[in-house]
Amino acid sequence: MSKLFTPLTLAGVTFKNRIFVSPMCQYSSNDGLPTDWHLVHLGSRAVGGAALVMVEATSVSPEGMISPDDSGIWSDRHTEAFRPIARFIRENGSVPGIQIAHAGRKASTDAPWRGGEPLPPTARGWEPVAPSPFPFANGYSVPRELIAADLDAVEAQFADAARRAHAAGFQVLEIHMAHGYLLHEFLSPLSNRRNDAYGGSLENRLRFPLRVARAVRAVWPTEHPLFVRISATDWVEGGWDLCQSVALSARLKEIGVDLIDCSSGFVTPDAAIPFGPGFQTPFATAIRKETGLATGTVGYITDAVQAEQIIATGLADAVFLARQFLRDPYWPLHAARVLGVDTSWPVQYERAKK
Ligand SMILES: Cc1cc2nc3c(=O)[nH]c(=O)nc-3n(C[C@H](O)[C@H](O)[C@H](O)COP(=O)(O)O)c2cc1C
Repeated sequence: MSKLFTPLTLAGVTFKNRIFVSPMCQYSSNDGLPTDWHLVHLGSRAVGGAALVMVEATSVSPEGMISPDDSGIWSDRHTEAFRPIARFIRENGSVPGIQIAHAGRKASTDAPWRGGEPLPPTARGWEPVAPSPFPFANGYSVPRELIAADLDAVEAQFADAARRAHAAGFQVLEIHMAHGYLLHEFLSPLSNRRNDAYGGSLENRLRFPLRVARAVRAVWPTEHPLFVRISATDWVEGGWDLCQSVALSARLKEIGVDLIDCSSGFVTPDAAIPFGPGFQTPFATAIRKETGLATGTVGYITDAVQAEQIIATGLADAVFLARQFLRDPYWPLHAARVLGVDTSWPVQYERAKK
């Protein structure tokens, strides 16, 4: 009996297995609007048997995009453009999800295949914003420090994005608090050097991300799961760490978050990260144990037996796969075969199943 292929119910949504498509930027949107690329890319992974297909980091505002080619959800045009994508994913047996994000001081960069460098306002770029006026790395512009009125506006943008995601037909919403983007920048003492109520103590650094989570939860239907992706550690002495992540997760649980998606790193460019199979799974396990919340693990999960072991031994409730889904959109169908599970294939493909 495979545990990887056992359904999981969170809030009012049942996932047919524990295999989730991790959010992945495609740098293929126009003015934040998803394109045919997104329909085919995301749709293929629904056809391939994933229980959840999560749309890439989708910006709550134009200035929150990582690159000018990112997807966004800041107007009703965006809602309409996402609607057929969410519908297709659902019609093909998967749960449609979307990650909402603001890139903070890491905004305004080029697509990776064009070098990923920071873009100045004179070349499709714009002035980034952040908790504190310190750039991410050499070559990045100094971000504008957010003032109290800006925080109100960003909080409202996240809530509006959640409302639009629901209207577009998404059933899972994930708030991006990881990877050195805006909300992680508030959490980490490495990027947050504020002297007001939003900086300094842990309580103060949690304040704005928790405001956002509360505002989103207030508009996102309770029967639909709310996820938060965190960087469970900065991998830097004196930075954000697992102990603070447990405290954050406990507060998110009180707010009504249903799952913590445990990633790590990327608030600074110079951390020594021990990449490898399972390197982030202990974070998901610790947060699951300490808070009682469901957790997802991500990172270097490529193999069916490896994924089965994570779920079967209770290390996490779900596995998020990113690059392996780029190599093989049908990974769940292939994993089922490896694990001896008779999972259904799309009827159009059944003649190839045997
Ligand atoms: C092309 C690409 C785009 C990504 N975009 C996002 C993103 O939009 N949001 C996010 O939280 N992580 C993003 N990531 C990180 C992945 O979701 C995942 O956490 C990471 O790749 C580790 O998982 P893997 O070893 O299965 O690839 C991206 C990764 C890749 C390869």
